[in-house]
Amino acid sequence: MNQTVLDIKSRRSVKSFKPEQIKDEELMAVLEAGMNAPSARNRQTPIFIAVQNKEWIKKLREINAEIAGVPGTDPFHGAPTVILVLAKNEGTCPVEDASLALGNMLNAAYSMGLGSRWINRIKETFELDFGKQLLKECGYEEDYIGVGSCILGYPKDGFPNPIPRKADFYKILK
Ligand SMILES: Cc1cc2nc3c(=O)[nH]c(=O)nc-3n(C[C@H](O)[C@H](O)[C@H](O)COP(=O)(O)O)c2cc1C
Repeated sequence: MNQTVLDIKSRRSVKSFKPEQIKDEELMAVLEAGMNAPSARNRQTPIFIAVQNKEWIKKLREINAEIAGVPGTDPFHGAPTVILVLAKNEGTCPVEDASLALGNMLNAAYSMGLGSRWINRIKETFELDFGKQLLKECGYEEDYIGVGSCILGYPKDGFPNPIPRKADFYKILK
């Protein structure tokens, strides 16, 4: 089996990270994997905001935990990098475009030995004034929809074991 398929098959989400920041070139490789995902009619609707600033991560963490209804917890599992994935709210498939980009990021991260995980509640985050302010801070002025986030860091306890796949995942009609 080729290496790409092997990596996709063995990728697992991580929720325990070392505090050490990832290297800039590792972050760039993950962003480029996201940038190179297919998009409907090649509209390239997604945008990525990679947050490594501790103050911004703290604010995002507090808001995410509030939205989840578990204030005081850390929905980002202590990861030192959080990539917020949004898509321009236009065309037919912004959520699909952004989801594919995020999937590419998770697979790329694993292939490089980085821990990663999709963290939700980004749609709600960017419906708040806080999210709109963050977009403005980054110079994005159009209408964007939050889709998800990809946390990144070096795994503290390695990668979890494979999860068995359900038996009726597919049918092949010949
Ligand atoms: C759409 C989506 C939303 C998710 N949201 C969260 C989340 O908010 N918090 C979290 O810890 N994990 C979240 N996850 C990670 C899943 O829990 C994880 O992918 C799942 O348990 C399967 O494990 P695996 O990724 O190792 O195969 C999310 C995954 C997806 C695809």
